[in-house]
Amino acid sequence: MFSTTQKIGILGGGQLGKMLCLAAAPWDFKTYVLDASPDFPAGQVCTEFTVGDFNNYDDVMAFGRDKDVLTIEIEHVNTAALHELKRMGKQVHPSPDALDIIKDKGLQKVFYRNNEIPTAPFELFENEQDLLSAIDSGRWILPLVQKSRTAGYDGKGVAILRTSDDLKSKLLKGPCLVELLAPIQTEIAVIAARNASGEVAVFPAVEMDFHPEANLVELLICPARISPLVSAQAEVLAEQVISAFDICGLLAVEMFLCTDGQLWVNEVAPRPHNSGHHTIDSAVTSQYQQHLRAICGLPLGDTSQMQAALMLNLLGAEGHKGPVRYEGVAECLAISGVHVHLYGKAMTAPFRKMGHVTITAETLEKAFKKADFIKNTLKVFSQTQE
Ligand SMILES: Nc1ncnc2c1ncn2[C@@H]1O[C@H](COP(=O)(O)OP(=O)(O)O)[C@@H](O)[C@H]1O
Ligand SMILES: [Mg+2]
Repeated sequence: MFSTTQKIGILGGGQLGKMLCLAAAPWDFKTYVLDASPDFPAGQVCTEFTVGDFNNYDDVMAFGRDKDVLTIEIEHVNTAALHELKRMGKQVHPSPDALDIIKDKGLQKVFYRNNEIPTAPFELFENEQDLLSAIDSGRWILPLVQKSRTAGYDGKGVAILRTSDDLKSKLLKGPCLVELLAPIQTEIAVIAARNASGEVAVFPAVEMDFHPEANLVELLICPARISPLVSAQAEVLAEQVISAFDICGLLAVEMFLCTDGQLWVNEVAPRPHNSGHHTIDSAVTSQYQQHLRAICGLPLGDTSQMQAALMLNLLGAEGHKGPVRYEGVAECLAISGVHVHLYGKAMTAPFRKMGHVTITAETLEKAFKKADFIKNTLKVFSQTQE
């Protein structure tokens, strides 16, 4: 039901929260954000900002009590409070049950196995010592990928272990999972949306190119340069995953297209995702509006792509830390099809996500021609170099 008076509570006030609030504005939806500081990106655009810790039970309960719909822009939130708010009759999307699984990469992998969702073969370990024993005994052989069960994001909880030296220098501590190093041909992501009645809509697959050092997506390409058959398979797989989790809202499904043509689900995020930023400028419906449609009981929007799109993350330049200064924005805005999004973070740091640029064009080739100029021109510096 469409209502401009319902209160939508968002846990997390980063850039994803900001873009969600911006998508809510044209419909006059009221957005309420909980996070540590109103200086965070969403603080500048939400209806009301509440200072608190989304990981703290009492803070989430106090925040949620007078809201109608609760959602997230980050999955590492206090789900005990979300369970309780749901029991009290609040709409909580995604469901706390799904969040409990997704927050823990180990439980996520077990979920894939139990639901016959293709994923890299894996094993869970209590700690790194048990993993070392498994390697000593020959049960696991290098190279392999170790992931922290709960601590990771943006590649921080992922170690690719290739040599015995890596076992000394890169091994992650604590409960972990280990999986085969996937023979990756292309990394793709498919964002699916599902509403409360189980209707599903899927955005076209995007291709993700990673920054070799920062382990962050550097360039996103939509549509992905994969065959129509593989795109269709990826879309079906995303639909299968969102339905298995019984999610209402968005689910971004990261996948590996392996060299033998198989698709493996890598991980999922039940919220707006970095790999869907381009939809603001290039799709009929943005991922943010789609999330609102799903969680507010509205019909899902058209996910068609109107133009080819590239998305560049604007990362803080190396060697620059402190109050931010952008260089080259005006030069980039002079080019047609260049859409600049700055998140409004006061401080930059090396590799910090400060914004993104979407480049739209009739074809990917035309978009690529503009991308080099943007990369070389638009810079995120600090006001004083350290
Ligand atoms: N099993 C794997 N085989 C090969 N590369 C992997 C594997 N798992 C992760 N990676 C690489 O590490 C990146 C980050 O891993 P991911 O599990 O997605 O963590 P994050 O939560 O940091 O995004 C992936 O996008 C991929 O490039
Ligand atoms: Mg990932």
